[in-house]
Formats: sequence, structure tokens, C-alpha cells
Amino acid sequence: MKIDHLRRAGNKLRLLDQTRLPGELIYKELDDYRDIIESIKRLEVRGAPAIGIAAAYAVAVAAHQTDRLEPEYLVEVASEIKAARPTAVNLAWAVDRVMHSLREVDVMDVEKTRLSLWNEAEAIHEEDRQMCAAIGRHGAELIQDGWSILTHCNAGALATGGIGTALGVIYTARDQGKNLRVFADETRPLLQGARLTTWELQQEGIEVTLLCDSMAAMLMAQGKVDCVIVGADRVASNGDAANKIGTYSVAVLAREHNIPFYVAAPMSTWDMAIESGEQIPIEERGADEITSGFGKRTAPEGTKVYSPAFDVTPIRLITAHITDEGVKAGGRAG
Ligand code: MRU
Repeated sequence: MKIDHLRRAGNKLRLLDQTRLPGELIYKELDDYRDIIESIKRLEVRGAPAIGIAAAYAVAVAAHQTDRLEPEYLVEVASEIKAARPTAVNLAWAVDRVMHSLREVDVMDVEKTRLSLWNEAEAIHEEDRQMCAAIGRHGAELIQDGWSILTHCNAGALATGGIGTALGVIYTARDQGKNLRVFADETRPLLQGARLTTWELQQEGIEVTLLCDSMAAMLMAQGKVDCVIVGADRVASNGDAANKIGTYSVAVLAREHNIPFYVAAPMSTWDMAIESGEQIPIEERGADEITSGFGKRTAPEGTKVYSPAFDVTPIRLITAHITDEGVKAGGRAG
């Protein structure tokens, strides 16, 4: 995997600004946790596992921004970071985990506190690498040589600390010698499919064809899609899965055309505290991302806009969940 988009750099977080892809490779080194929050909000770093990792590093970065590490300071920092984006459960999960790592540390010992935060953030990052690899291994068993796979948004290396979830399955199957083609939905309105998935697959030498979101039905009707694999931002305990807006319609189409629909996500994306997708908070984004995305006005001034960033695919439309712990059957018959 050639992509190195997120890592610790001394006491800073180094990240690839994904809003500038595919045109420019701009790396940022952030030494203020508030800048990391802004990067998460602006989707400079995005994808559920990646924002969890960035959030964990943000707590460690914040620990260098004051000489006196009062517990109240870290608690306040943690709650600000957790509020950056609501849907991906990985974000709050990772922040809670680094905070929990301090339970046996004397918080009056500033150096030990900082070290513990960095160690836990790096452990989360490393575990995500391993979870991606495990998802890849389990998922690759479902993929046959010669298949064409449709994906939505970007659930690749750029969205995780490893090889990705949905794309990780594809990389692993490719490494096993399977010849695969990918169809990437462009993923309106922020074009993660067009800007990121195509770029990432090109880096990895995998054949990719870009299509507008509305073209998936036609492609499926023509018999050109063998399976769909997407990532998830939060999976409820019953298996309902929130992912990038538009995923639900792809799942409905896949069922109509009898095409397997797989959701690939690590167990850190599962929220066992909620029963169903109805309880998943859905982020709403600003109108300008739809009316004047990428600097070009495409709707009249003052147009009313509805912009949920994610939707929920009910378990009944999911053939199987591919997790780091194995493949779990979904609720779709056939
Ligand atoms: O708004 P984004 O770009 O953060 O949305 C990302 C997605 O919806 C991904 O599919 C999801 O986080 C899975 S990433 C492995």
C-alpha cells in the first residue's frame, strides 16, 4: 500500500488534505487539536476509521498545548473532539478509549500522561491496520476471479489506518491473483468516489470505471455488476448500517437485480448500544456543498436544500457484513 495519509509526526498529526485530491498532494502537520477538529469537519481527513484515529491523535496533540494537564482540560478537549462529526461511531469510541487509557496514570505527571495518550492513539491506529487486513482476508473469500464490483463513496486506505474496508477486500482478492474491475459511484455531493476512490485504485493499479450515482441501475440491469461492497460509518446491533448518502438506494437496486450487497466494516464501527439504524444520528451538511460545490454555483441563490451526509441501509437489504471477526450473514434472502 503506497498511500501514507495519516500518521504521527513528533508531537503533531500529519495528514493528507483529501479535499485537495486528486489534483494536489498537500500534507498538513497539525499541532493544535482545534485544527484537527476543523480538518475532520471539512473532510480533509474522512472515513469512519480514519476520523477515529485522527480524533485519538488530537487528544494527544492537545496534551502538548498546555503545561498543566488538569483533568478538566482533557475532558473538555475530549468532548469538543467528539462533537466534530456525529455519525461515525469510531470518533467517540476512539476518544473514549484514549481517555480511558489514563485511568491508571497519575494525571499530575504530565510526561506520563502525554506518553499514555500517544501510545493509545498509536495502538488504535495499529489495530485498525490489522482489522483492515482481517476484513480483507475474510471478504476476499466471497469474491470470484473476473468479477466487477460496484462501490460507493471511498472505503479505502484513505478512509482508514490500513488498506481500507470495502477496497481492502478488493486489494486482498487482487493479491490472491483474482482479476477484478471496479465501478466507482461518483458519490454526490462531495465526490468521494470520483475524487478519492478512482485516485486510490489508480495508485494501486486496479482497473476502475467512474459513473454518476444515477447510472448504477442501468449498469446493474445490463448485468455488469457481480457484487456491491461498501463501508459503514455506524452499524447498529441489529446490523442496520449507516454509510454515505446514496448507499441505501444502491442496496435497493442490488436486491432488485439479485446482486449480493456486502457491508465491510471493523467491529469498532458497530454500536452495540443501539438496537437499530433509527437511532443512528445522521449528520446534515451545509447547503453550499450542493448549491455551489467546488466553487461553481449550480442552483439559484436562496434555494432550500436538504443534505443528509449519510443514510441507513436496513439489514434486510444486506447480504452479509464483512467484519474483522469474520463474515456475518445479513437479512437478505438470496
Ligand atoms: O463523509 P465521509 O467521506 O467521511 O463518509 C465516508 C463514508 O461514508 C465511508 O463509506 C465510511 O466512513 C466507511 S470508511 C472505511
